[in-house]
Amino acid sequence: MVQPKLIIHGGFFSESNTDAATKLAKQESMKRIVSLAHAFLLKHSALDTVVYACELLENDPLFNAGTGSQIQSDGSVRMSASIMDGVTRKFSGVINIQDVKNPIRVAEQLMAYDDRVLGGEGATAFARNQGFEHFDVRIPQRIKEWEIKAASQGKGTVGCVALDAAGKLAAATSTGGKGFEMVGRISDSATVAGNFANAHVGISCTGVGEDIVSASLAAAIGIRVTDGMPLDQAYKRSFAELAAYDGFAGAIALTAGGEWYHLDSHPSMVYAFTDGIFLDIF
Ligand code: GLY
Repeated sequence: MVQPKLIIHGGFFSESNTDAATKLAKQESMKRIVSLAHAFLLKHSALDTVVYACELLENDPLFNAGTGSQIQSDGSVRMSASIMDGVTRKFSGVINIQDVKNPIRVAEQLMAYDDRVLGGEGATAFARNQGFEHFDVRIPQRIKEWEIKAASQGKGTVGCVALDAAGKLAAATSTGGKGFEMVGRISDSATVAGNFANAHVGISCTGVGEDIVSASLAAAIGIRVTDGMPLDQAYKRSFAELAAYDGFAGAIALTAGGEWYHLDSHPSMVYAFTDGIFLDIF
């Protein structure tokens, strides 16, 4: 039996002009969520756990996903979320979904369908058909930021990679986007550039979606590890490609062998790892 392990992230400290109190609050929240998710992982699969962890992160207004998401240029929130099952390699996701509390749960439902990535009105209509009720994720702070055009520049996303007792990996990622983006803009979070898992490794990214897509970041790290490159080398190689255009990104990863890693191109990413005994939090 494999020792279950879990790594989560909550975007960047630098978003939304984070002060010391907010930084501490984010760290406390990460500690709470990584512990809850690890306890869940002891009795559930990696796939179920990454969804559960992302749901907890989406429900915390400190993070830019679900409740507390950034507001787009037209005053609406459009969110994106995805899941990848390392066993089946199935990827499901929603892009620019509106007015649901937990986009990651909608992505979870799509795993059972042939059409597994839905966008815009189709994604929202699917959610309603599945019984997801209307939920306004805008919080007063984000509305205030939007009114004075002071939202962060797209550095926030949440994510989780889990390794379960059966040695199976899964990854999930969810975002409220950049803030003030053009209507129709597509994030990296529901693509394999932002969220990737196979039998060898799982990766979840945060940062500026356009930069992450340009580097195919999660998929590049994943394929390099799959082809035999050590995890740290795969990261360094992929982040060097990102540095070529000063790309803004961070990524967490966990391998089937239980190795974990994180790197960010700019300071500094919020993450937490636990195997149930050891807890690392930043
Ligand atoms: N990584 C989140 C976004 O750019 O939308």
